[in-house]
Amino acid sequence: MWSKDIAADGFDLRRTGINPDFWYPLARSRNLKAGKILGVSFAGEPIALARTRAGTVFALEDRCAHRQVPLHMGVLSGETLRCAYHGWCYDLSGKLNRVPYLSEDSRPRCRGVRSYPCREAYGHIFVFPGEPAKANQVPLPSIAEWRSEQYLTMRFMRTVNCHYTFMHENLMDMNHQFLHRRLMGNVQPTMLDWRKGETWIEARYKFRNNDAKPHRGSSFMMTGAGQSGAPVERDFELMVVRTEYPYQTLKVWPAHSNATAVSLWAAYVPLDREQRVNRSFGILTVRKPRVPGLAYLMWPAMRYFAELVFRQDKMIVEVEQKAYDAQGADLNQEVFPVTLSLRQLLMKCGVAPHAAAKPVPAPTVV
Ligand code: FES
Ligand SMILES: [Fe+2]
Repeated sequence: MWSKDIAADGFDLRRTGINPDFWYPLARSRNLKAGKILGVSFAGEPIALARTRAGTVFALEDRCAHRQVPLHMGVLSGETLRCAYHGWCYDLSGKLNRVPYLSEDSRPRCRGVRSYPCREAYGHIFVFPGEPAKANQVPLPSIAEWRSEQYLTMRFMRTVNCHYTFMHENLMDMNHQFLHRRLMGNVQPTMLDWRKGETWIEARYKFRNNDAKPHRGSSFMMTGAGQSGAPVERDFELMVVRTEYPYQTLKVWPAHSNATAVSLWAAYVPLDREQRVNRSFGILTVRKPRVPGLAYLMWPAMRYFAELVFRQDKMIVEVEQKAYDAQGADLNQEVFPVTLSLRQLLMKCGVAPHAAAKPVPAPTVV
């Protein structure tokens, strides 16, 4: 039952590569201005994101085909990206279309660089790092509350020094509220039930009884709760945490209402080849309070509260990673059935170590 047993076949969850055949947010839209190039990475693969002056966003392998210099150091002019070193010119698809110091006829055949399917949504730039042919069949994640008049949205992007699987386990296992006791008070969620499918797992928690003393911090986020939606019998706050591979969501409904009060969408994107560091992207939507304008007044406090909770989670998963590194293995004695099942799901949906980061030769030959 212990994770050690799960890993007995030599398959270590903390060395499981994330499956690249999905859309991953690699940057915030606002961090890529028109005419600029931004260097990011996915599981050790360097990727250059660029936005033309006309607004088109594209993603190329961040290594010049000439001498492997990062292309994000280069210059974008119109729809041509020029490497910073000798000025080789690439188009939006990564095709090499000019070597400035050689004539077209005298230039030997050279490959260009790999390009990645790239889309912009929810204020983020999403890239499909896997097999390009699959990109059209795999949908972008859907976030129902996005841009709804009834919700306010905050976005987070933080680098966390741990394997992405620790992030999934942290959010899914609500038994860790003890960690947040100073922020959340004596909130003691109890699990109601859980379900799983081929690519997902979901746990439902009774988050807080209606008669439990509300704690200042956790009540903040629920200010707009319960003002609309169809009334329901349920006399407690319901929290549902779901991993829908590779993303994760958390939703809270107030007692007696079927309208979501708080909704979080998260993606944990490995940055390095070992996948020991991830960039966590979060989109948090909070239902607006009934009093017009109150939400905007409370917004900084809500944001600060969410930051504090995240800071505690970041601290704890990073020390988990440190323990793994020090011991060279996962010696956890996990006992929570949902976490055990989640671990299986993450292993099943993941890929072999480093598979996500193996260099793919650019198909373009000029
Ligand atoms: S290294 Fe890029 S042009 Fe020479
Ligand atoms: Fe937490």
